[in-house]
Amino acid sequence: MMAVTRPRPRALKTDSFPDPAGTWNRRFADDGFLFGTEPNAWLREYAGVWQAGQRVLCVADGEGRNSVWLARQGLAVDAFDIAEAGVAKARRLAAGQGVHVDFSVSDCDAYPWPEAGFDGVAAIFVQFADPALRGRLFENIRRCLRPGGTLVLQGYTPRQLEYRTGGPPIESHLYTQDLLRQAFADLDIAVLREYDADLAEGSGHCGRSALIGLVARRR
Ligand SMILES: C[S@@+](CC[C@H](N)C(=O)[O-])C[C@H]1O[C@@H](n2cnc3c(N)ncnc32)[C@H](O)[C@@H]1O
Repeated sequence: MMAVTRPRPRALKTDSFPDPAGTWNRRFADDGFLFGTEPNAWLREYAGVWQAGQRVLCVADGEGRNSVWLARQGLAVDAFDIAEAGVAKARRLAAGQGVHVDFSVSDCDAYPWPEAGFDGVAAIFVQFADPALRGRLFENIRRCLRPGGTLVLQGYTPRQLEYRTGGPPIESHLYTQDLLRQAFADLDIAVLREYDADLAEGSGHCGRSALIGLVARRR
């Protein structure tokens, strides 16, 4: 019988990532910390918006560098990430530094997002989200902030596609000032800054980078 060869389906051009849990578990499989153990510089600069004892959520916190540092500042910190391997390392980092963080392994769509449950949200490099997922993620972030609660967010701008020193190589995942202004129009924007800087946040975010930072408060 003659073998029938079917044409291979052409790869679909997609702007979302397949198997994010598997991909990130593999990236976090090594002993080291892909983004280091020190907090993101933008978060460190603006974490003073929260007072000790306040409750802050770290979104997609990876290996825990940001949540653990926030807990060390005296905040009550919750954190989640889709990658079990990252959360396991984050738990060890917290234990090693003698602080408690309420960690969970969760996809951002599945996270319970308590309504007005947090005084703050830290969303640092959460650009895994394509526009549809980002819409849901940002809506959940807005809703889980208490009135007066503050979001501190950092990401890359489309110019990062020239630097290629970190972040997803997909323009629709990156942030512009207009995008963030529209997405958080119902929050009071205290700081929205686009800038270039040399990042040294592990091997994952290293070198000249096109960044954007936001600090915004729920009314
Ligand atoms: C660039 S890393 C940033 C990690 C951390 N925020 C930091 O600054 O070190 C992106 C993180 O998003 C997580 N992630 C990817 N897709 C996710 C999803 N759908 N829900 C929750 N976390 C996700 C990855 O596991 C990874 O830890």
